[in-house]
Amino acid sequence: MAKKVTKAVIPAAGLGTRMLPIARTVPKEMLPIVDRPAISYLVEEASASGITDVLIITNRNKETIENYFDYSPEYEQKLHEAGKDAYIEQIRAICSKVNVMFLRQLETKGLGHAVLRAKAFVGDEPFAVLYGDDIIISETPVVKQLTDVYERTGLGVLGVKEVSDELITRYCTLDAKKLENGLYAVTDMIEKPKKEEIITNLAILGRVILPPEIFEILENTPPGAGNEIQLTDAMRTLANRQTMMAVDFEGKRYDMGSKMGFLTANVEQALRNPEFGEEFRSYLKALAKNL
Ligand code: UTP
Repeated sequence: MAKKVTKAVIPAAGLGTRMLPIARTVPKEMLPIVDRPAISYLVEEASASGITDVLIITNRNKETIENYFDYSPEYEQKLHEAGKDAYIEQIRAICSKVNVMFLRQLETKGLGHAVLRAKAFVGDEPFAVLYGDDIIISETPVVKQLTDVYERTGLGVLGVKEVSDELITRYCTLDAKKLENGLYAVTDMIEKPKKEEIITNLAILGRVILPPEIFEILENTPPGAGNEIQLTDAMRTLANRQTMMAVDFEGKRYDMGSKMGFLTANVEQALRNPEFGEEFRSYLKALAKNL
């Protein structure tokens, strides 16, 4: 049995250009899905998957992320004075489940560069990466779906979904051999393939489990697309060397880095809300009649 995965890294230091102008002052990871910021869904997914330590990679414009995972004595005092102590418990619960740590990426040099910042935090252990703007709502937390495979195989694991030809040319195509239900062995990948280069339509969507060897590879990975150090370039080297596993995960994914993703996440998550989901459904039905 491979080591248990107890650490996770959430890179959240990107520019968020697709979410401008809001992203200039509100980090896209702090955009709400109903009543909570996107990044809190990630921390909860990690916690529900058995992760005990989370490192969030931020930058100088993202203090609101750090503040969200901190206590707020002045605010709590005001709630107490107003006789609203129940809310204090709710707010404190945000910080109590896992150890959340922060480290700044001093320059915005890509997802691979952000993950490399986590080297000292991770040490000689396998770890999960949750891309800061990819929210996945599922029955079993996706990180858990992936760590189960890591713990069985000892190989790096990619969370994947089948996407259209159009989309795969914007992501990365995988050379993947189907093994058993929903599981693949990956030996190669091509970033942003041309139509004629597409091998499979499986795209890596927001969750991976990596062995610590990835750091030595990242240190030797030159800047790729957009002159940034790309995590997929390093994972390609890893897949070439020792094969990676891919899991066609169960869950609905929302790209909070895009305006459509932000809107659909809010509408669909509001529909799932036990308190007002039904009322919202009636509202949407009435609205749709006139669309
Ligand atoms: P994206 O490529 O989706 O984020 O990276 P971006 O660069 O912010 O997007 P656009 O193109 O400008 O809209 C996936 C995740 O990696 C983080 C981002 O915050 C996002 O959560 N990231 C990206 C970093 O932490 N550092 C980087 O240098 C780049």
